[in-house]
Amino acid sequence: VVAPKPLKVEPEEDELEVAGKTKVTVFFGTQTGTAEGFAKDDYAADDDQYGEKLKKETIAFFMVATYGDGEPTDNAARFYKWFTEEHEREPWLQQMTYGVFGLGNRQYEHFNKIGKVLDEQLAEQELDKILRDEDDATTVTTPYTAAIHEYRVVVHGSADPIYENQYNNVPNGNASFDIHHPCRANVAMQKELHKPESDRSCIHLEFDIAGTGITYETGDHVGVYAENSDETVEEAGKLLGQPLDLLFSIHSDAEDGTSMGGSLPPPFPGPCSLRFALARYADLLMSPRKSALLALAAHASEPAEADRLKYLASPDGKDEYSAWVVASQRSLLEVMSEFPSAKPPLGVFFASVAPRLQPRYYSISSSPRLYPNRVHVTCAVVYGPTPTGRIHKGICSTWMKNAVPFEKSENCSWAPIFIRASNFKLPTDPLVPIIMVGPGTGLAPFRGFLQERLALEQEGVQLGPAILFFGCRNRRVDFIYEEELQKFSEEGALSELIVAFSREGSQKEYVQHKMVEKASHLWSLISSGGYLYVCGDAKGMARDVHRTLHNIVQEQEKVDSTRAEAIVKKLQLDGRYLRDVW
Ligand code: 2AM
Repeated sequence: VVAPKPLKVEPEEDELEVAGKTKVTVFFGTQTGTAEGFAKDDYAADDDQYGEKLKKETIAFFMVATYGDGEPTDNAARFYKWFTEEHEREPWLQQMTYGVFGLGNRQYEHFNKIGKVLDEQLAEQELDKILRDEDDATTVTTPYTAAIHEYRVVVHGSADPIYENQYNNVPNGNASFDIHHPCRANVAMQKELHKPESDRSCIHLEFDIAGTGITYETGDHVGVYAENSDETVEEAGKLLGQPLDLLFSIHSDAEDGTSMGGSLPPPFPGPCSLRFALARYADLLMSPRKSALLALAAHASEPAEADRLKYLASPDGKDEYSAWVVASQRSLLEVMSEFPSAKPPLGVFFASVAPRLQPRYYSISSSPRLYPNRVHVTCAVVYGPTPTGRIHKGICSTWMKNAVPFEKSENCSWAPIFIRASNFKLPTDPLVPIIMVGPGTGLAPFRGFLQERLALEQEGVQLGPAILFFGCRNRRVDFIYEEELQKFSEEGALSELIVAFSREGSQKEYVQHKMVEKASHLWSLISSGGYLYVCGDAKGMARDVHRTLHNIVQEQEKVDSTRAEAIVKKLQLDGRYLRDVW
């Protein structure tokens, strides 16, 4: 039933059966905007309407992704909360037949959690289930035969008004900014946080939000639309065989009856130069999907190249696709350079070959109480060799590393940004003890927390204890914000700073080892109402810290493992054990 066609069926009211056909409703929970979502149509209405509306569905497919710490995607968040927490418990969906298709990545701890939970809750309704499937989006093996989409391209002369010189901020209907309505923000300040002897790089960058209308809260995330480097853009221009100063615009003529409207993202604004479009709108470094290989095949003038591309996208070529493309981390540009005769026209390239460049999210490392006009970001620069020998440079972190702040030039760097709210927040009562665990750039939101506490203290507010566990390799190399942390301690915003240096001695010292040393103190704070916060790497650090917490509970409470797990779960449900992990 999951047809190899763009799966998008608009719910049409009161049209359940038309000439023997049954209406199928497909719900998308997507973060990247590849598909459209819950937020549209009927399901954007008020929450208390969800129940009434769902009851009317006869066949429904839920295609849901999971991100972060087992959370729903932004566009599915409200529906998910309502469905899992707020709707009535007794069976009430009597006739709906459903399918759940979860999309996730097995590297994450909460692989496909949202799909699983949705499936379990629907199962409680004793409905007919026609499909439960889950896929690891990194190794999708479904045969792919989608149509090749194409935007209509208009080439412009230099007399036409050029969009890129007059980037306009267009807020959404609520006069605020979001993923589809980002706000242009200048880089005000940028500096390296590692010492010169470091072989890695970590950037502190500040966006100027004065006068933009952007507001944020301590603990929120900022979404940043970065630019590809000049080097990447120039290579793409060569591979496409097009001049970078070509002025063009793209259009999706949904109204002319083609099916494009439903399955293609809206065109980016134009006219703009090819240089601008490649820099800001095309993901050129991700491994190409099979659909992209087919689109390249359709425009390869060399038949041998077309055949090989088709093979890689076919069920027979699936192992080779997994090895040659996915496991080798071959970027789209690397793949294109192996098939030089494949030069798709721009309308095909932007619709079917290069995915839209997605924003990157960062935990904001400032507090609006101290910096109402700035959003601070703390970003580890992604840089390293891939199996093919290419040096992969993370798009956004590399952009941040090279960003020119307006301190240094009027012609400074800028990016479209927006705020994503989080539930990673300080307790409302500042007297409640807090324990923060944030090695590496996991320190980011805690710098915001400490700024907020400092501001409160300066207003005369009494503060409870705050303990920070920070970890890095070496005191003299990557102890980021060291002076600031010392200052927070001196001024009373931070009661105790505990640092684990992993590469100073012969043994690895990690934050969780330090937590064990302080077990009884930590547990007395938490069990008397304190909050525990963990931020940073999900797969390694956060998982190990979670295990350590479990052990601490077991030992301190003198209970068995099952009981300890229940206690930890309860902390999570109460919102006193919060994680901001990636
Ligand atoms: P390492 O790189 O020496 O292994 C910030 O990245 C710090 O987190 C580094 O000191 C890093 O140590 C450490 N780190 C790596 N894996 C970790 C884990 N599983 N738990 C806790 N800390 C970890």
